[in-house]
Amino acid sequence: MNNRIFSVSDARKLARRRLPRIIFDFIDGSAGEETASELNVEMVEALRLVPRVLVNVEQRNLRKTLFGQTWNLPFGIAPMGMCNLTWPDADAMLARAARHYAIPLGLSTMASSSIEKTAERAGENAWFQLYVGQSEEVAFHLVKRAETLGYSSLILTVDVPGIGARPREQRHGFQSPFRIRPKQFLDFALHPRWSLTTLKRGVPRLANVNVPGGVEFKRDETRGRMDWDFLARLRDRWPGNLIVKGVLGCDDAVRIRDAGADAVCVSNHGGRQFDSAPAAIQVLPQIRAAVGPDYTLLFDSGIRSGEAVIKALALGADFVLVGRPFLYAMGAGGYAGLQEVIELFRTQIDIGLAQLGCPDIDDVDASYVLPASLPGGR
Ligand SMILES: Cc1cc2nc3c(=O)[nH]c(=O)nc-3n(C[C@H](O)[C@H](O)[C@H](O)COP(=O)(O)O)c2cc1C
Repeated sequence: MNNRIFSVSDARKLARRRLPRIIFDFIDGSAGEETASELNVEMVEALRLVPRVLVNVEQRNLRKTLFGQTWNLPFGIAPMGMCNLTWPDADAMLARAARHYAIPLGLSTMASSSIEKTAERAGENAWFQLYVGQSEEVAFHLVKRAETLGYSSLILTVDVPGIGARPREQRHGFQSPFRIRPKQFLDFALHPRWSLTTLKRGVPRLANVNVPGGVEFKRDETRGRMDWDFLARLRDRWPGNLIVKGVLGCDDAVRIRDAGADAVCVSNHGGRQFDSAPAAIQVLPQIRAAVGPDYTLLFDSGIRSGEAVIKALALGADFVLVGRPFLYAMGAGGYAGLQEVIELFRTQIDIGLAQLGCPDIDDVDASYVLPASLPGGR
């Protein structure tokens, strides 16, 4: 397995071969015709960075300080539900990697590892991501658990008023809780390594959403009742860092800042929710201009390399989250695959900074971006 992943595309190809198609399509798929997810990647790739020469770049810094904590790398692991479908221990692998590389890990409400278990595994690297379903009581119960366990940061995801319609999931009849149905027998039979391991370990279950005495949280139920009043109540009750994720509009970002959230994560959910959404990178410079230079912005959607991380930082992000590449990595090669992809990003950022003539990641800014390559640029 070693050294076979030289790019995220390599990891994706390997994962596609090794995972049952229903699982690969759950990871890889997006809303509608998948134009938003394609655009995410294409628009990041189209950006060009202009190197500066004759700069001493022998010593380089990739560390970033965010919310008073110093992270070894300028990116973290985006919150993703049901990662254990990729490989039975995927959540544990992500937690181990978060600790090993000193990067943050977003634990999804829809994860198959509990808030408690993840705190144990990832310690202060773990952030909790909140979905709000039918019951606000359930949501606040989760928030309280995270607070009691010492989670420093809460990500409130606001771009899932209902689960996105993803044709690839629909065609397979993908469901949560996950069920193996007769239709998939051939798919599973052709991928015995995944199937036998998963059968042995048990099909992953949602670990956080069944609150004693509360209403069960279902993946398909509406999450559409969350509003600005809820954000205000959450701000009152959550003492830690509050990140609002899934924002694409300047006015929304400013209003979230003014409501007291500590950060906005500019994201279109990797194109999984709304096919007509702009590419997240397309709106990042405007949102940076709207919220001002000092407000904390995170970014995700369409990051497929270390150079892409540099580009998002150049356009105004303070920190980047990466989603699918880490799932491809584990699908391709378990923990070793995950390490390879994180190392790949690290090396690409490191060499990228050297090429740019910008030895400190904190000094990357829009002056390195070729204006003609900016969305709408001339
Ligand atoms: C399989 C999968 C599950 C996801 N589940 C969640 C989730 O439970 N909560 C959430 O806020 N975002 C979720 N996301 C979105 C990611 O946090 C992130 O926004 C997205 O993956 C970034 O785009 P990228 O995959 O192009 O990097 C999920 C993404 C994937 C691929």
